[in-house]
Amino acid sequence: MTLSASKFYSSGTDTIDVALESAFFANLKMRNGTFKLTQPSRFRDLEAAFRPYVEERVGSLREVLDVGVSVGITTVELARFLTDCGGAASIVATDLFIEAHIVEVFPGFRVFCDPEGWPLQYDVRGVAVRPWVRKLDYVTLAFIPLMFGRIVLRPFLRKRIEAGMSRPVQMITRSLPSNGEIVFVENDIMRRSERFIRRFDMVRAANILNTGYFSPDQIRTAIANIHSYLRGPGALLVIARTNRARENAGTLFELSGNGSFAALERVGGGSEIERLVLDFRAPATADGCR
Ligand SMILES: C[S@@+](CC[C@H](N)C(=O)[O-])C[C@H]1O[C@@H](n2cnc3c(N)ncnc32)[C@H](O)[C@@H]1O
Repeated sequence: MTLSASKFYSSGTDTIDVALESAFFANLKMRNGTFKLTQPSRFRDLEAAFRPYVEERVGSLREVLDVGVSVGITTVELARFLTDCGGAASIVATDLFIEAHIVEVFPGFRVFCDPEGWPLQYDVRGVAVRPWVRKLDYVTLAFIPLMFGRIVLRPFLRKRIEAGMSRPVQMITRSLPSNGEIVFVENDIMRRSERFIRRFDMVRAANILNTGYFSPDQIRTAIANIHSYLRGPGALLVIARTNRARENAGTLFELSGNGSFAALERVGGGSEIERLVLDFRAPATADGCR
């Protein structure tokens, strides 16, 4: 049985196991139709292949950006990997959807929703009920109350949240290190963030810049944003994708002095967007720098 959000967020960090946590998050459908999916230990082969390059530069890896982290399970593993390599980097972990709220509608009925009031889970007397519609619901007609509930509840939930009548929570793993080395920030990689400019010594974008999900133009926009977030020559970029058979294809890039990327290492034949990254050319700035 799926855990209700109230129960999940009320339990101590030591009482939730990773499998239960993954199952809880995997049942949440975001308002763009995606689920909070991730898997532990999915990047072992990438870590093994990229390790010598990371170890060589570990002294200069102070700030790292992990893009599209879902609930951050693989970000925690990235932090461990960097520590194993001898580093002490702080990590900014971003995703489109991090913030959420638990709103009590009436005693015995709570809704777990995003800040826009989009229901992610209903909690009826402690029993978790999914608010999203699946194909079978059109046969059983269960889609009618589900869709009706969403339409009616959304403005109500938004108002409650705006009035501060909710419990704010974050959709992030509870297995975070306690030293605060990972900070989660809601952010869209398609929109440039001034506060990230020239800040990071390494950026990872894993299982997000996929050709089946984004158009080449959108991927170019993301690459340009990532480029602007890198501190300068020598900074690292990891792009990877895991397929259905849990095999990884990824490339480790380094930013060159001329502002373009060079591939340092590949796993599984390299990233499917490697060409787009290598073809990227930074626009010259007013002072002629890239
Ligand atoms: C499949 S998960 C990948 C999680 C993790 N990086 C991994 O590889 O296990 C993709 C994540 O990217 C996020 N995402 C999608 N579009 C995004 C965007 N434009 N900016 C930031 N995150 C985005 C989704 O919300 C989702 O949580």
